[in-house]
Amino acid sequence: LENGLLQKPPMGWLAWERFRCNTDCDEDPKNCISERLFMEMADRLAQDGWRDLGYTYLNIDDCWIGGRDAKGRLVPDPKRFPNGIDFLADYAHSLGLKLGIYSDLGNFTCMGYPGTTLDKVVQDAQTFAEWKVDMLKLDGCFSTPEERAKGYPKMAAALNATGRPIAFSCSWPAYEGGLPPQVNYSLLADICNLWRNYDDIQDSWRSVLSILNWFVEHQDILQPVAGPGHWNDPDMLLVGNYGLSFEQAQSQMALWTVLAAPLFMSTDLRTISAQNMDILQNPLMIKINQDPLGIQGRRILMDKSYIEVFMRPLANEASALVFFSRRTDMPYRYHSSLAQLNFTGSNVYEAQNVYTGDIISGLRAETNFTVVINPSGVVMWYLYPVRKLGMPQQ
Ligand code: DGJ
Repeated sequence: LENGLLQKPPMGWLAWERFRCNTDCDEDPKNCISERLFMEMADRLAQDGWRDLGYTYLNIDDCWIGGRDAKGRLVPDPKRFPNGIDFLADYAHSLGLKLGIYSDLGNFTCMGYPGTTLDKVVQDAQTFAEWKVDMLKLDGCFSTPEERAKGYPKMAAALNATGRPIAFSCSWPAYEGGLPPQVNYSLLADICNLWRNYDDIQDSWRSVLSILNWFVEHQDILQPVAGPGHWNDPDMLLVGNYGLSFEQAQSQMALWTVLAAPLFMSTDLRTISAQNMDILQNPLMIKINQDPLGIQGRRILMDKSYIEVFMRPLANEASALVFFSRRTDMPYRYHSSLAQLNFTGSNVYEAQNVYTGDIISGLRAETNFTVVINPSGVVMWYLYPVRKLGMPQQ
């Protein structure tokens, strides 16, 4: 969507995967979907280094709605959001953050709250703009294919007509099976800044693998449609939650980064461990995710040893390489060379290991190297050509 927004994949925090539809503020006041939860996450984003690394979106998901007022305007649940969404937006902005909100193009949201039916699209867009919201995720439960085909473009136009820059996250393709001909990706790129293609992520490695497998199976369709202002969204990061081992958490972060995916954390930033913070706050990882070319990476090699290699082209002739192990036995010594990964020519490269910081220099296309990849883990390289000595500098 050419609204000038999200020239790089969005980064931030989204409530859903970790906090779901917990509305029991009497019994669980710290974790229920409420003003307090979002303010506490905003504080953490601002104070613990997240915002300064680019994690600026603070996004509300389902279960915030209380109903509609006499004029038909959406209102938040008065008990859980006593000061309104505009107050939360002001709070986020005062900390240098942006606020995202959620709605659903149907009679109800997935969890049964009032939805944005076609006749409410314009009014709800105006309400979100008045509240100074910065992003809208528009879900698709309880809507028909015909309603979605009308509703998503209608919302894009309605958001544009408010005059407020509001990034637009569309769940549309996820409700149409994610593939052409039901999904028209060039239309999506015109009307949405990002879109959920596939299933909801759950807190398990199995879920990560099923999403990854679907994305690589269809990479010929999905890879070309991503770019600055319009991104595929394989869903939230699980890092910091319960379902992934340390290696698996590193893998999700690395694989989402080569896929140029939005980096929406959904974890409790009040209690996250230092180890998980290191994964999410790795500066070189973020630099790669946010590369200005905005090219989505691809799986370029599947080895019979259950090692796969992913590659994302980056600015300045650099690239990101992810060596991913699907093995379940022990650390695997994978032997390769850049030539085997389709690098040609006489450049000399240097590689920086994104997680360890180690530098490997003097790599030519034919140089043999070995990477040691842990089970369900990755080795990730930032690879860049070194200027040839003795050559005139341009
Ligand atoms: C389905 C979406 O795909 C999820 O990300 C989440 O927003 C839920 N609906 C909320 O009900």
